Parts: sequence; structure tokens; C-alpha cells
Amino acid sequence: MKKIKLSASVLDSDFSEVKTTLKTLEKAGADMIHFDVMDGNFVPNITFGAKIIAPLRRHTKLPFDTHLMIKNPEKYIDAFIAAGSDIITVHIEAVKNLASVIKRLKAAGVVPGVSIKPKTKLSRIKKHLKELGLILIMSVEPGFGGQKFMEPSLKKTAALRKIIDDNNLKCLIEIDGGINTQTAPLAAAAGVDIIVAGSAIFREKNVITAVKTLKKAADSGLKTS
Ligand code: DX5
Ligand code: ZN
Repeated sequence: MKKIKLSASVLDSDFSEVKTTLKTLEKAGADMIHFDVMDGNFVPNITFGAKIIAPLRRHTKLPFDTHLMIKNPEKYIDAFIAAGSDIITVHIEAVKNLASVIKRLKAAGVVPGVSIKPKTKLSRIKKHLKELGLILIMSVEPGFGGQKFMEPSLKKTAALRKIIDDNNLKCLIEIDGGINTQTAPLAAAAGVDIIVAGSAIFREKNVITAVKTLKKAADSGLKTS
């Protein structure tokens, strides 16, 4: 039976304790670690780069799911590959030549991902679907954690699920922004494979309970036929 994977965004965690946080997430049953890289240019916020991610690689075996919210991602993907990313997602609104980025990521053994902002149409990425490993549907405007889930992203997810299934494609669907115990089952029912969660984990008292509760909530949204 299908189970929804959880990619934990450490954006809202206390970075002075990130080593311990990684261990806690692993123990809680998180499936991957989501790194929100922001450049203060593509989005109105600045976080961290490859230099911060690289030394964390040795502290967990969980896959690194790197979400690049940066302009000109072509220039930086090698650094994020070298930092130990397992998945690298660029934004369709920021990348100049997606086909060449996909090729470079595949050659490095990294899963190639592309993300679309809430107002970006699915048609922008359609021709790349066969080559992509992951589509990240943004369910908030990228830039900050703790925002409200945008409902229209569910329709977009369901439409993408249908295209992927109808064409027998391998591409995974990830949803990012405003995921909590209420929205996770809706996203699962719409057809996502992976949910990203930040504030629903790190603004809770107990990280372990929060991860477990979210995963359970997500799986409850899957049809049981
Ligand atoms: C937003 C980021 C998200 C965000 C998720 O730009 O891409 O990954 O941190 O945070 P929550 O779960 O709080 O919406
Ligand atoms: Zn993200």
C-alpha cells in the first residue's frame, strides 16, 4: 500500500542545534530533510547555501531534498551536488535551460526536480515530465515558513497526478507550504507522494510526536481501495 513520505523542512528549526535536530527527525520517522535555499532575490528572504548543508551530510543517512529558491540556479547546482543533495529542485520561473539542468543532475546521480509557484501553470513544465524525477508544487508563495495553505494547489496536484498516471511516468509529486494535520490528508487524497512540513513540526512542542502525527494524518487521506 502507498504511504506518504515526509520531507522535514529545517527552515523553522533552531539552527544552532541542527545536528541534534537531524538525529531527532531520523528517530521520529521523517523520510528526508528539506533544505530551503533562498537568495533574497528570487524570493524576499535569505537562508543558507551549500557551505552550510555540506557538513551536515555526515550527521544523518536521510536523503537531502534541496529546494533552490534562487535566481540563476545553473550557476550553483554543482555546489549543491557536492554538498550531498539526493534531490535538487530548481524553479521553472528561475531556470533558463531546464533540459540542461536535468541532464547535469542525472549525470551526477541526483534526482532532478522542478518547482512551480502557485500562479504558474502546469503547462510550463509539461514537456519535461518524462525526464523529471520530481515536481514540487508550491502551496504558498515561496519565501517564508508558517504561511496558510493555498487550496487551488490541490486541483493542480490532482491534474498532475492524472497526467503522470495516464502516461505511466515515474515522476514523484511533492507539495510544499502550509502542510499541517488538516491539509496533509487533502494533499494525499489529491495524489501527492511527498509532503514538506516545517512549522507543523518545529512550532510544536514535541518534534517526534509532530512528525508521527503528520505522517498518520497524511496516510489517512489515501483511498483504501
Ligand atoms: C517556503 C518553503 C517551504 C516552507 C515550509 O518558501 O519552500 O519549504 O519552509 O514551511 P511550512 O511548512 O511552515 O509552510
Ligand atoms: Zn521548500
